[in-house]
Amino acid sequence: RIAYVNGRYLPMTDASVNVEDRGYQFADGVYEVCEIRKGDLIDETRHLARLEYSLGELRIAMPMGRAALGMVLRQVIRRNRVRNGYVYLQVTRGVAPRDHAFPTRPVRPALVVTVKPLDPAIGAAVAEDGIAVITVPENRWDRVDIKTVGLLPNVLAKQAAREAGAREAWFVDADGFVTEGASTNAWIVTGDGVLVTRPADRGILRGITRAVVMETAAAEGLRVEERAFTVEEAKRAREAFVTAATQLVMPVVRIDEATVGNGKPGSIAATLRARFHDHAE
Ligand code: PDD
Repeated sequence: RIAYVNGRYLPMTDASVNVEDRGYQFADGVYEVCEIRKGDLIDETRHLARLEYSLGELRIAMPMGRAALGMVLRQVIRRNRVRNGYVYLQVTRGVAPRDHAFPTRPVRPALVVTVKPLDPAIGAAVAEDGIAVITVPENRWDRVDIKTVGLLPNVLAKQAAREAGAREAWFVDADGFVTEGASTNAWIVTGDGVLVTRPADRGILRGITRAVVMETAAAEGLRVEERAFTVEEAKRAREAFVTAATQLVMPVVRIDEATVGNGKPGSIAATLRARFHDHAE
């Protein structure tokens, strides 16, 4: 496999970054994950817009213009001959002698792009059965709207899920409301068939898949309510699911010890999953 590292396309074995890269030392950087489907990048424009937002909030410059960045992504996909999978893009503040505050001398942001080929049949098979999620206390900082590489709470939550035989962990705030998953946005479907997901304030990442699913839901004549929901409401919901570029729409059939609905993926989640790519760009 080939990676892009600061201007060069290198075999993965040679692809490395400087030990004084601020991403490595301070998690001072941001990332994006985009789906690759049939050789195409899905929702590239929205992902690059969010990248620019995340970078802007941290006052890191775009490493290059959006168009040029899109070319690099496509180049990495092409060089690896990936038809289906994901592209990972990371931008950090760059390399500078260790000092918490920003470097006083201008540094070039560091850009890394890698790909991960993945057969979509694998996700489809998981979606047939649905997944279990566990709940964990929200312990992240309050700027999770910035897609930073500072993911330690997410890593620990995901590991706890794995050790509990689940695939995702939902963060729950002090009032009992679900914020989002460790790497997904969280949704439920009420008894009346209304989709509920938390407003994209600073408590969650503004998921691109979440936005596309809202459009898909509208096209299917489904009502969406952007409001917070509690774990208790989720456990009693007709359906639950998560969304992310890596999951599309993934049904949730168990939350901690509670079975959601009849324990099988719900029909609304299945429909949204099936129609998703009609609305993605
Ligand atoms: N994660 N919330 C969190 C905390 C996430 O990390 C992600 C994505 C999402 C969903 O966003 P989107 O629909 O734009 O993928 C929500 C990526 C896929 C990851 O970390 O691998």
